[in-house]
Amino acid sequence: MSNRVHRFSFRVAVLALCAATGMTATSVVAQAAPQKVSSHKVAVKKVVVRQSAASSKPALKVVVKAHAQAQDANKQGFPVREAARSNGNQVAANPTNFEALKLTQVKDLPLNPERAGIPTAERIPLEQEKRRQVTAELQGLLVDLTDLRMQTTEAHWDLVGPLYLPVHEQLGEFADRYAKYIDRVAERSLSLGYSVDGRPQTVVRTSGLPIFPGGFVRDSEAIDIITDRLDTTAVRTRARMKRVSDLDPVTENMLQDIIEGLEHDLWQIRVHKQ
Ligand SMILES: [Fe+2]
Repeated sequence: MSNRVHRFSFRVAVLALCAATGMTATSVVAQAAPQKVSSHKVAVKKVVVRQSAASSKPALKVVVKAHAQAQDANKQGFPVREAARSNGNQVAANPTNFEALKLTQVKDLPLNPERAGIPTAERIPLEQEKRRQVTAELQGLLVDLTDLRMQTTEAHWDLVGPLYLPVHEQLGEFADRYAKYIDRVAERSLSLGYSVDGRPQTVVRTSGLPIFPGGFVRDSEAIDIITDRLDTTAVRTRARMKRVSDLDPVTENMLQDIIEGLEHDLWQIRVHKQ
């Protein structure tokens, strides 16, 4: 084969191995190279020859097996470089001692279940059941605020009419402020050991706010709609604060701050109609 064909085969082989193993091109090249071979390029060409001689699976198996062995050794606390050497491969990696980093704790986390509670908040003197109830309220507030922020942004964009400039500017400031509230609410939930769900699908499914109309919106109509959404969010947040007050005064204080901000904005948008 010519050099051009060799180079093409090399690239195709690396891409195929990346797709099959989920590794990066660099790690595929590195893990496919036996220690006694100094050039990665030559080593991968050997893999290509093995692939073309039989099927693509045997050569892939070599790489996947080496990768699995390295990961296996890794789980036992061996540094990556040592695991790679024991498999006769050259892997460019820092000699990290994963045992010292206590990464074993991570594998015990209940990843993916909705609103998974994890035992990271033992130092906060709040019982698990109270934390669960408080963070359920925080999740609801996170969704309401996310919807409010998006509706405010939508009104900021689609606005038309003589009040365009002041209302456009005002709604942009509101949306920026709600982004900060959302982050604060989410991080309070995380502080109490519970994950949050701010995915668009979850917001659509669980928001307490009516949908915002599509298309251009006149300034007076936008003011009415945002006034209504702010009022709804503030009322719902006050109810949450009441429920949280017996459970966690710290979260209650945070909700007070957010309600104060929402009611401030409610007044400032409402005055356009007064
Ligand atoms: Fe903008």
